[in-house]
This record gives sequence, C-alpha cells and structure tokens, in this order.
Amino acid sequence: MTRKTGKLVFATNNSHKLHELRSILPAHIQLLSLADIDCHTDIPETGETLEENSLQKARFIHDLCGMDCIADDTGLEVNALDGAPGVYSARYAGDGHDSKANMELLLRNMATHTDRSARFRTVITLVTDDEVHAFEGIVTGKIATEPAGDSGFGYDPVFIPTGWDMTFAQAPESRKNAISHRAVASHRLVEFLNSAHDRH
Ligand code: IMP
Repeated sequence: MTRKTGKLVFATNNSHKLHELRSILPAHIQLLSLADIDCHTDIPETGETLEENSLQKARFIHDLCGMDCIADDTGLEVNALDGAPGVYSARYAGDGHDSKANMELLLRNMATHTDRSARFRTVITLVTDDEVHAFEGIVTGKIATEPAGDSGFGYDPVFIPTGWDMTFAQAPESRKNAISHRAVASHRLVEFLNSAHDRH
C-alpha cells in the first residue's frame, strides 16, 4: 500500500507530466514511471469525461502491475466554445495531430470571440487494491491571441492564468507548478494520503 511503501505508479506515457508531478509531490512519495516497472503498453483512454478517462487509466495499470496507481486526465475548457476542447483536448485537431496543430485550431476558433475565459481542469484518480479516490484541480485564465513561450507543454503557450501577464509557457516551471490545475489536484491527493496514513 502507498502508505506503507510510499510508492505510487503514475500511469502515463507523457514525460512532461511525470516530470511535473515529481517536482510537485513531497519527497516521501516515490513516483514510479511505467518504465520503472517495466511496463511498455498503450493505455486505453475511451471515456467521455475526464473522470472516466482518469479512472480507466489508473485501473488499467493497477490491474496489470498490482501496485497503487494514479492517473491524470486534463482538459482545457473554453467558455466561448461551450467547454471545448475539454476531454478531447489531446485530439482537438484530429488523431495524430500535435500540440501546435491543436493550438492553431483553437486560436482560429476563438478569432471571433471576445470572451476568452477558460480553465484547465485535471482529475487525478488513485486506485489501490481496495480503494478508488478522485481529486480535482482547476486553474482559471484566458486564451492568448497568439502562442508565447517555450517551457511547459501542450496548450501552455496559449493559456494566461488569472492575474498573470504571461502564458504558462513563458513562466519558469516552478511558477506554473505553484498554481497549476495539476498542482491543486496533487495537493489534494497528498492531503488524502497523509490523512490515510494518520488513520492507520
Ligand atoms: P491528457 O490529460 O494527457 O489527455 O491531455 C489532454 C491534452 O491537454 C493534451 O493535448 C495535453 O498536451 C494537454 N495538457 C495536459 N496537461 C496540460 C498542461 O498542464 N498544460 C498544457 N496542456 C496540457
């Protein structure tokens, strides 16, 4: 169990997410990658909500390796686009397209909108032998008129968090990690793990 070993497998093939979460989580939680447990497989992601996908990914890897697992699923929800791209953020410009194509399509679809408000929402799900828990993290902001910055990943160059005058991709990673959707969800996960530890 996590509370005994301090080990958690992160069910992701996204090296950026792994790096971010390792910087956010406290040292006593050892976050193992799929490579660390010698698991080289595609993880299914067929749900219609962030909650479903996050649970599906964590459960899939837990059932394969028998260890405590977490997975995250993230969406960029844009108000003027009725919450799109949302759960379809990764393949907004179509299967096989990259972040650049996704951002270009987003900026084209936003061209006529004055309301540029948006939010990133992450759901992290923890699956152990006998428990399933989900933790949500949200950061609000707006969509920039053009991409700026080259740190971070995904839609970071077009997302300006509330109160900032730059995109996530223009900030040092420590600044993103202090307030990001993934940081908020991770802190909730850590609070839960610590309280579970106190209860046992
Ligand atoms: P998923 O959670 O891996 O399915 O990611 C969905 C989409 O959101 C992908 O296009 C990611 O690149 C993007 N994404 C996930 N997390 C972030 C983030 O922290 N910043 C910017 N884009 C992200």
